[in-house]
Amino acid sequence: MPFENRNVLVTGGAGFVGSALVRRLLREKARVTVLDDLFTGRRENLPESGLEFVHGSVCDPAAVEPLIARSETVFHCAARNIVVSTRNPREDYETNIGGTLNVLLAARAHGNVRVLYTSSTSVYGNPRYLPINEDDRLSLLTPYSVSKLAGENYSMAFFESYGLPTTAVRYSNIFGPGQDPSNPYCGVVAKFVESLFAGKPPAIHGDGNQSRDFTFIDDAVEATLLAATSDRAVGEVFNVGTGVETRVNELAEILIRLTGASVRPTHTDRRDVDNIRRRVVNIEKTRRTLRWVPEVTLEEGLRRTVEWQRAEAARPRP
Ligand SMILES: NC(=O)c1ccc[n+]([C@@H]2O[C@H](COP(=O)([O-])OP(=O)(O)OC[C@H]3O[C@@H](n4cnc5c(N)ncnc54)[C@H](O)[C@@H]3O)[C@@H](O)[C@H]2O)c1
Repeated sequence: MPFENRNVLVTGGAGFVGSALVRRLLREKARVTVLDDLFTGRRENLPESGLEFVHGSVCDPAAVEPLIARSETVFHCAARNIVVSTRNPREDYETNIGGTLNVLLAARAHGNVRVLYTSSTSVYGNPRYLPINEDDRLSLLTPYSVSKLAGENYSMAFFESYGLPTTAVRYSNIFGPGQDPSNPYCGVVAKFVESLFAGKPPAIHGDGNQSRDFTFIDDAVEATLLAATSDRAVGEVFNVGTGVETRVNELAEILIRLTGASVRPTHTDRRDVDNIRRRVVNIEKTRRTLRWVPEVTLEEGLRRTVEWQRAEAARPRP
């Protein structure tokens, strides 16, 4: 990967995806700076040394501009999540739209900065057809999907209007080691594993027949790095998923087996946010253009996640 000695900024780099990207970029010998307001991210998610950490917000142009001025690539991962966005759309708007505009404006002013925008498959809402292609009809059911799409649209418009090399990846339910179960907004996998370790049944919203396309973190990171470096990716949007549809009931069963817990899942009310019935994405475009395939099966990814969460739970905390 061509990141050796490259100056890279990761916004939201103390979060789940951002910190995994940072660790990988450091292995590639990039010079990494992180900008994060520690809203959900934690400094402890990152190595203590070998990178520059700036505590600040993407909403603040004065924080963003000097960092972008010395970057060659920006991974823009800072975002308010779907739960916070649904509760407080203005906060979502300020970070997810305003913060993205700050990043793009600074990149345009500086010139010659490659921008990788991390979007979400939530822009598809309840799809008409499965698996979902990038150019299928979008359906924006939450303030979060509105803001994530706005960030994507701005990214594409900055390419078309100003020639800024931008690419967007639409992530589908990323899970894996590093997803902190103490973060109240973490994904379903981390939550289920935490319950099972506590001897409690995983609480499934609704009948559990809702499905998602669960993507292992290392595969998502690899796709993201390729999207930020491939010439053919500029001005393009890519699904990052697996093409495999998994019902939440199946997910719970696998995790019960892997943790060895002797509980049965319980069913609670339907979730009040992100209430999508079925989601699985088509990854052909990503596969062909970026020459990428997800390598970690759901079972293997869950096994690694359970192991990591077990080790974390046993680790003495300061
Ligand atoms: N994890 C997933 O399954 C998933 C799915 C779709 C899209 N995404 C996107 O991927 C990106 C990373 O998500 P994640 O799962 O790592 O979430 P996360 O909450 O772990 O990480 C987001 C990071 O952004 C930081 N942040 C929030 N507001 C900020 C601000 N105003 N200024 C600076 N930093 C700020 C947070 O502190 C956190 O470290 C986001 O853009 C998200 O929309 C993630």
